[in-house]
Amino acid sequence: MKPIRTAIFPVAGLGTRFLPATKAMPKEMLPVVDRPLIQHVVDEAREAGIEHFIFVTGRNKGVIEDHFDRQFELEVTLKERNKTAELSALAADLPGAGSASFTRQQSPLGLGHAVWCARELVGNEPFALLLPDVLVQNKPGCLKQMIDVYRSLPEASNIVAVEEMAMERIHQYGVVGVGRSSGPSFAITEMVEKPPREKAPSNLIITGRYILQPEIFKLLATQQGGAGGEIQLTDSMIRLAKEQPFHGLKFQGRSFDCGSKVGFLTANVAYALARDDIAPAFRKEIDSMLKK
Ligand code: G1P
Repeated sequence: MKPIRTAIFPVAGLGTRFLPATKAMPKEMLPVVDRPLIQHVVDEAREAGIEHFIFVTGRNKGVIEDHFDRQFELEVTLKERNKTAELSALAADLPGAGSASFTRQQSPLGLGHAVWCARELVGNEPFALLLPDVLVQNKPGCLKQMIDVYRSLPEASNIVAVEEMAMERIHQYGVVGVGRSSGPSFAITEMVEKPPREKAPSNLIITGRYILQPEIFKLLATQQGGAGGEIQLTDSMIRLAKEQPFHGLKFQGRSFDCGSKVGFLTANVAYALARDDIAPAFRKEIDSMLKK
């Protein structure tokens, strides 16, 4: 079984739901507490053993590249001020030399197209895909849980993280059909992107974490527009599922859909409450606010 060394992060989206905050700043740089969304997701990938981080960016996303580089002026100033803890925290977050790659999606044609844009960088290897809109709060992280299960699956399997969703929101997501369980995961019988409620095969949605085989790229190359006119990853996964096994894993932990304002704000509250240095004071503030 080939190890999963590479992860794709599609970060080309326009972030129109967060305007004007995202007019000049990529939505992936919005902070959840004091770490940008994209940093949280990269942390999750690193914990899972990912060694190569591929970012599919777009215009106006240069700040993401800067974020994963050194910042000399800042480092010098921190050193002068003896801020050693901050300095070493920055150094620990930095991807190793040559381990981050950036490519561009030139037109916003959909998630499937964004993933396809990374094909030359990925090569003929299975890879992880993490959507930075989605945060999963858990130790071990969602991708680590998936990789542990993936190792026990037959060669050339694919696996997606799934979770239950209220039926009134099911049309916003990719939805899977549930087949036979094999250990902690189950065989996926069908997938459908953004179905109307009555066409949804279950209440289990695809959460934004995937482990896929490289054969997906040849299918994406010919993929026609689907839901919303976009080239949908799910549509190519449906085709790949005819050739290779697809599994779903109900992961441990809570997910936050940070593509929505309520999800993003809730993530901030949850991550702040999980921080020893912030939680006591923050909890007090929230409690008194809610009492009013
Ligand atoms: C994408 C996927 C969808 C998945 C969702 C998770 O949709 O296409 O299958 O359920 O992410 O957030 P998007 O949010 O890009 O519309």
